[in-house]
Amino acid sequence: MPSLNPNAPSHVKNTKLIAWVADMAALTQPDSIYWCDGSDEEYARLCQQLVDSGTFKKLNPAKRPNSFLACSDPSDVARVEDRTYICSESKENAGPTNNWMAPADMRATLQPLFDGCMKGRTMYVVPFSMGPLGSHISHIGIELTDSAYVAVNQKIMTRMGKAVYDVLGADGEFVPCMHTVGAPLAVGQLDVKWPCNSTKYIVHFPETREIWSYGSGYGGNALLGKKCFALRIASNMGRDQGWLAEHMLILGVTTPQGKKYHVAAAFPSACGKTNFSMLVPPAGFEGWKVTTIGDDIAWVKPHADGKMYAINPEAGYFGVAPGTNYHTNPNCMASLDKNVIFTNVALTDDGDVWWEGMEQDGGGLPAHLIDWQGKDWTPEIARASGAKAAHPNSRFTVAAGNNPALDPEWDNPAGVAIDAFIFGGRRSTTVPLVTESRNWMEGVYMAATMGSETTAAAVGQMGVVRRDPFAMLPFCGYNMSDYFQHWLDMEHRLEEQGHTLPRIFCVNWFRKNEAGKFVWPGYGDNMRVLKWMIDRLEGKAQGVETMFGIAPLFDELTWTGLPFSAEQFNTVTSIDKASWAEELKLHTALFEQLSYHLPLALIDTKAMLTQRLQD
Ligand code: OXD
Ligand code: MN
Repeated sequence: MPSLNPNAPSHVKNTKLIAWVADMAALTQPDSIYWCDGSDEEYARLCQQLVDSGTFKKLNPAKRPNSFLACSDPSDVARVEDRTYICSESKENAGPTNNWMAPADMRATLQPLFDGCMKGRTMYVVPFSMGPLGSHISHIGIELTDSAYVAVNQKIMTRMGKAVYDVLGADGEFVPCMHTVGAPLAVGQLDVKWPCNSTKYIVHFPETREIWSYGSGYGGNALLGKKCFALRIASNMGRDQGWLAEHMLILGVTTPQGKKYHVAAAFPSACGKTNFSMLVPPAGFEGWKVTTIGDDIAWVKPHADGKMYAINPEAGYFGVAPGTNYHTNPNCMASLDKNVIFTNVALTDDGDVWWEGMEQDGGGLPAHLIDWQGKDWTPEIARASGAKAAHPNSRFTVAAGNNPALDPEWDNPAGVAIDAFIFGGRRSTTVPLVTESRNWMEGVYMAATMGSETTAAAVGQMGVVRRDPFAMLPFCGYNMSDYFQHWLDMEHRLEEQGHTLPRIFCVNWFRKNEAGKFVWPGYGDNMRVLKWMIDRLEGKAQGVETMFGIAPLFDELTWTGLPFSAEQFNTVTSIDKASWAEELKLHTALFEQLSYHLPLALIDTKAMLTQRLQD
């Protein structure tokens, strides 16, 4: 098969890149190759092309300037964890929580799928930097994709464009990210609005740092800088190079005295990370300020000064729309005013977007919508059939620059020094509102045993508790037990440099009462918990020892503006011995699953917790 001349523009000097593009073109046989430059003009042109092809609907510019709605194929609406593979040389290295196939077998599987997969389409070459361009914490990726939707999303989600080639130079390293929707077009064949394939493979080769994604155009399956690179491949880089790639938001919190702290927090998918990262302090917290550095992913690197510095490798937010409104996340709503790509939300009769949760902003339910599947939606239809106007995993893609609460340091190539890590699952019982670990080891234990009731971000059964260590279950690109050890090793790595480590807190915003109702108000009121954490850092809150870390006393939280009784506080903070006895059995089951290379320190910590429970 003669290879298509990649015709690299003159500013592309990287010989490895040019050769790779030529090889991939020979394999996938696109009609043409387009090298993205990341310009605004290019973005506008590709968006218009997506409008012309029917993938995008341009929203009413008077309501939502320069914004678009894409509705996916109903079969392509979420990450596909059961089709996601870590193809390390040894199965043990992928570990029991990842799907694995031997690299040679996977390559043999992918070869015929990729052979000719871009026929009739354009291959876009998308150069991007994860992290500020040129930062020592950043890394470069090149995504080859036959989806213009992916190219425009990558312009928002990453630092995408020509400048990447300057950093890359003639022989710089990049992570090759190969993506196809897996829907070649025969000559004369009309395209569909959302091409994809019912066969899907999201594949990572950690040793060679490659990503191959086949068959999906959606989110984390297709925007390969995000979960595939910034978490699965980067966690491998981090293990080898002594740093951490984490499923964490990063926020800045400034006290009324002007002291600024930085916190990184891990929550499973669709558990309010974006909300927490843009939190607006409630009345009674005048002088406090929360600013966003990142909403989903943190790269954390120990520095010679003995502190851990974090950057947000992304440049935009790919957030879950339903549930977002002016009460839950006013800063996010303000971010979505203009220049947004929406995917799988509903269309209003006046050309704007709508999703479940917006009715709480005072307007009530709209009388009529076109739902995400293009069907008529009315409140009556919804009542009768339960039909959602927006898919529960519908998303917005928006640049960080739109966020009114953006931290001035968000793009600082040096990152920000982390003072505390927060880990939070979604548990209706058992796990208290907040505790602080007594030491690094206990914190790692808390994170390792996190559990969560599942959400719509991943295909699967809703509402079932699954263990989600560090909120990294779907994203850790190597053996989870080795990952635990890597975290434990950080303590000694930093201690040698004489540093006090970031403190570790465990939270649960989701406890329910006997009537099945959430007790903790959450959202802006989470500031009350955040303030207690800062008080702990400043030595102002003593707390009380529990079997699962140090908890706040009722009076240590600021209650101004929130009627919340000591009894309610007890409902969200109590430690029920019987539930914890059951919980510890589940930790045992997790440790049995992860027994290969499980750090002994975790088993010892569990024995200590069991002892405390019995005391
Ligand atoms: C996400 C996820 O999209 O975690 O951030 O699924
Ligand atoms: Mn996420």
